[in-house]
Amino acid sequence: MCFFANGQNKKKAMSITYPIPQHILHDLEKVEKELVNSVKSSNGLLTEACLITLKAGGKRLRPALVLMAGMVGDYDLDTLLPIAVASELIHMASLIHDDVLDNALTRRGVATINATWGEQAAIAVGDFVFSRAFEILSRTDTYMIEVMVKAALDLSLGEFDQMATARVIDQSMADYLQKARRKTAALFAACCEAGSYLSGAKAYEVNALTSYGENLGIAFQIYDDVLDIIGGKATGKAAGVDILDGTVTVPILCALEQLGPKSRLAEIVSLEKPSDEDVKTALEIIYNCGAIDKSKDIARSYVDLAINELKIISKPDAVSVFEGIGRFVIERYH
Ligand code: FPP
Ligand code: MG
Repeated sequence: MCFFANGQNKKKAMSITYPIPQHILHDLEKVEKELVNSVKSSNGLLTEACLITLKAGGKRLRPALVLMAGMVGDYDLDTLLPIAVASELIHMASLIHDDVLDNALTRRGVATINATWGEQAAIAVGDFVFSRAFEILSRTDTYMIEVMVKAALDLSLGEFDQMATARVIDQSMADYLQKARRKTAALFAACCEAGSYLSGAKAYEVNALTSYGENLGIAFQIYDDVLDIIGGKATGKAAGVDILDGTVTVPILCALEQLGPKSRLAEIVSLEKPSDEDVKTALEIIYNCGAIDKSKDIARSYVDLAINELKIISKPDAVSVFEGIGRFVIERYH
């Protein structure tokens, strides 16, 4: 097992900051090369926009999950590679579109495609990346296409549900979880299912790992919500984007549960256009009422559920890798 810290190798676009076995890290470099090849096209501008986005970095967590899930059965990179590449391309396309929807000017410290080339170009680039993912998938197992199509549908549904419920304070934790399951956890689960299925793991192991992926994805999204509130230097993210966008996340739900629907926080979250001062006030309220600790506890409980699924996996190496990823998800700063 090794720990590969961000920035150790400046030539690498991926920033692997989680514990991962050396052989998986090595194979992720092959995934990276395939990713670069996959976004090349006859259009120079399109290729440039894709390469800038890819080279901005990223944890490559989804392809890593595909490869690591392959450790549960008979690991074979050639079989796993197309799915690993396609999973990152689906994620990349969704982020390109997400940045248009969020009007985000930077991601991973680099100008977004919408900021550089405009919204129309960003939508077209996202469409291209998404289509490329399915071109790659079309050359694989039909069941894999089914698994990835379902995840992509869930992504779109989750994002749409999130938009439809923006600024609505009267929503429950169950409403939130449905969105997190679709928006984030579905692709995590699909990656785990794909890797284990393709490695010939037993059906009950594939099911367990799929459930691991789903719970891990929920924990990941909840911790992402926490990072949005903490923000600042430690995370490299601006704080309060969710409040600005009216996205009702776990820390906001925890704070609202305590402070009630008539509170100043409820008022700010419902505002169509909160000012910078409103966002600052909301962040202070959430920070000071203990909602961060409560949210972290909820994220931790989903990691526990994920890790519990590993009990029936027969390969100890794979189990310890997945336990490490679980800890990373709730201890990371980006
Ligand atoms: C980032 O989450 C966004 C997603 C996880 C999903 C976005 C999905 C779409 C835009 C639907 C389109 C889907 C496809 C397959 C093309 P976030 O906004 O919580 O996190 P952030 O802070 O990284 O933006
Ligand atoms: Mg976003």
